Amino acid sequence: MYRNEKGVGQAVRASGLGRSEVYLTSKLNNGFHLPDDARTAFDDTLDALGTDYVDLFLIHWPLPTLYGGDFVSTWHTLEEFYRDGRARSIGLSNFQAAQVQRVVQESDVVPAVNQIEVHPYLCNEDVRAANAEYGIVMQAWSPLAKGRVLNDPTIGAIASRIRRTPAQVVLRWHIQRGDVIFPKSTTLARMKENFEIFNFELEDEDMAAINALDRGEAGRTGPNPDVFAYVSR
Ligand SMILES: NC(=O)c1ccc[n+]([C@@H]2O[C@H](COP(=O)([O-])OP(=O)(O)OC[C@H]3O[C@@H](n4cnc5c(N)ncnc54)[C@H](OP(=O)(O)O)[C@@H]3O)[C@@H](O)[C@H]2O)c1
Repeated sequence: MYRNEKGVGQAVRASGLGRSEVYLTSKLNNGFHLPDDARTAFDDTLDALGTDYVDLFLIHWPLPTLYGGDFVSTWHTLEEFYRDGRARSIGLSNFQAAQVQRVVQESDVVPAVNQIEVHPYLCNEDVRAANAEYGIVMQAWSPLAKGRVLNDPTIGAIASRIRRTPAQVVLRWHIQRGDVIFPKSTTLARMKENFEIFNFELEDEDMAAINALDRGEAGRTGPNPDVFAYVSR
């Protein structure tokens, strides 16, 4: 969907790093859920990246209102890529709790990951519980709520007291909850800042204060997965 696979492949080659030193994730675009389309799309992903395997391949959105709601057949097609070794691991993105349960119950391979929107304004606890039940790693997208949580007074107060930045406080909160995070920044200094979160710990009261910022659905910055049906090919 992001049309960045070719550029990422070029960047990996230009970096001089060996393929095994880089962890590559890509996703199945929404227009390709039918099994034959998914097979072609996955071949195209590997071609565009210029590699013979990805480390992780995800179904980007469940699209329950499209394809007869049959995301399980799409998952079974990803299982083929896992079995033939071209996807070292496979997972979901934006799957709700009941959809995670259905995939697990109707398949052989348990998803490695479910990548969903999570930040202090949308804690997404029901999906967290479903992921945890099956040992599925929770990856938090938009972990800073696209920057919207950074001016929150509760987060600001904790940050000033412990002499960290608001972004570091939020990212540390994620880490202590056990989530995998991938904050985005186009600024080198912020990228460095966002890595400096492994030399301090938030106290229980601060964790609880940030948990209490959860606004449920009102806190979402992106689409609701139950109704999202955008397709581009
Ligand atoms: N699976 C999905 O459906 C899905 C959906 C949405 C997003 N994602 C992925 O999630 C990743 C991150 O999400 P996102 O980019 O939407 O949101 P995000 O990481 O929560 O926030 C990015 C914003 O925060 C700013 N920022 C980052 N670090 C900062 C810092 N230390 N101090 C102040 N501001 C800071 C960035 O500005 P600057 O760039 O100017 O520094 C940018 O405006 C992306 O890779 C995206 O592709 C996945």
